[in-house]
Amino acid sequence: MIQRHPFRHPGTAGDVRRLRGQLALLFRACPPPRRRELIVWNLACGRADESGALAEALRPARITRYVGIDLRGHCISEARARWELPGGVAEFITGDAAAIPASGGLPEADVIFIRHQNYWHEPAAWDRIFTRALACLADDGILACTSYFDREHQLMVSAMRTLGAVPAAGFKNPESRPLSDTPGKSVDRHLAAFTKLHLPTTPCLG
Ligand SMILES: C[S@@+](CC[C@H](N)C(=O)[O-])C[C@H]1O[C@@H](n2cnc3c(N)ncnc32)[C@H](O)[C@@H]1O
Repeated sequence: MIQRHPFRHPGTAGDVRRLRGQLALLFRACPPPRRRELIVWNLACGRADESGALAEALRPARITRYVGIDLRGHCISEARARWELPGGVAEFITGDAAAIPASGGLPEADVIFIRHQNYWHEPAAWDRIFTRALACLADDGILACTSYFDREHQLMVSAMRTLGAVPAAGFKNPESRPLSDTPGKSVDRHLAAFTKLHLPTTPCLG
């Protein structure tokens, strides 16, 4: 993944560097499918600042198709301008991650990443996003999330269990940067990975 423009905020480079290390640990504990080429979705990706870190953490596998989706068009435009995937296809789509259309031609994902999921803010909406993500994940794929704060992380893990996902790995990030304006929140404070190994096979239908 090639970064064409610097990050918008000064702390971001350090945050994503730390995230890369933590994701590498997560993927060691819960390995993605053992394929040399991976299809990766980044849901509710915002500006997708972590795109390069995610690609590096997945090495030696290579991302051949990378799809970022968010409701906020200005963030998607910024992501599209910043990231390039040599030898592959990177797409950034403005849209609802809970309503990924079957007819949109999106291939099943080997890895789905949701950074700073927002379950606390809107549980029903995030239940729909998680449901859709699990439906569109390859049977041997993994879904990885990070969270800003403890309670939200617990709620997300509980929701995933209810939806039938299997918690496979998770830990608190010792390098998480506290957010000075919101006590109790910090960047990528928790990481978790889920599989759907015991879920019945669900087609990625609209
Ligand atoms: C806490 S922000 C995290 C953004 C980004 N992943 C990051 O870590 O910087 C949550 C994001 O979820 C997005 N979002 C909320 N509901 C969504 C939906 N139904 N479909 C796509 N994106 C959604 C918001 O627009 C926002 O960018």
